[in-house]
Amino acid sequence: MLELDRLTKSYGGRTVLDGLSHAFRAGEFVAIMGESGVGKSTLLNLIAGLDTPDSGRVIVDGTPMSALDDDAATRLRRTRMGFIFQAFHVLPHLTLRQNVALPLLLNHEPDARADAMLEAVGLGGRGNDFPRQLSGGEMQRVAIARALVHRPALLLADEPTGNLDPDTAGGILRLLRSETRAHGAGAIMVTHSHAAADMADQVLLLTSSGLKFA
Ligand SMILES: Nc1ncnc2c1ncn2[C@@H]1O[C@H](COP(=O)(O)OP(=O)(O)OP(=O)(O)O)[C@@H](O)[C@H]1O
Ligand SMILES: [Mg+2]
Repeated sequence: MLELDRLTKSYGGRTVLDGLSHAFRAGEFVAIMGESGVGKSTLLNLIAGLDTPDSGRVIVDGTPMSALDDDAATRLRRTRMGFIFQAFHVLPHLTLRQNVALPLLLNHEPDARADAMLEAVGLGGRGNDFPRQLSGGEMQRVAIARALVHRPALLLADEPTGNLDPDTAGGILRLLRSETRAHGAGAIMVTHSHAAADMADQVLLLTSSGLKFA
């Protein structure tokens, strides 16, 4: 469902990604590891459309993102992808229910699923709470609920357990695994944690010469 075709990206004359190609299969849970600074977040941002490649293509469901206008590209991402980033990006002034319902709102879908999703991540009954009332692990569970509430085909996660203690991180990973499986979603998860990578279907290593199977 996702194909990367000779992606190249440089910053200030320094090449980070150099002609990277890879095909991700639908429903597959993939972990991407690699040294700090090698370009993992850059790669995820290119897939998420938060950044554009210098050359090469990101192809989603057979359509090169570059062939779509901004609106159509945004629509495709909003419906087909879910995002979890390290800093959560949970909005402080919205309740948990409103945070989780956000992708549905943006897609003009009814928000009925938000409560069930909160329940699924162990935060049932807390829909009216605000993020400031949560621990880091609970916050990340809200981020997971929000990333999956609109049933995306692909979940993108950058260090989703990066700032959690090992026990909490384990719980979050099991949840990520079970929720993506329940919805038939694939995932691309960037991680430094071998425990996290262990639960992926496939582990890829990003080096300066590209992505290879670890
Ligand atoms: N917006 C930017 N402007 C300039 N340089 C950037 C920018 N974004 C990333 N870089 C550089 O690109 C390289 C890759 O960064 P990236 O964040 O993708 O690494 P990473 O593999 O995610 O590292 P980490 O494991 O530490 O998160 C780094 O050298 C970084 O300094
Ligand atoms: Mg990074």
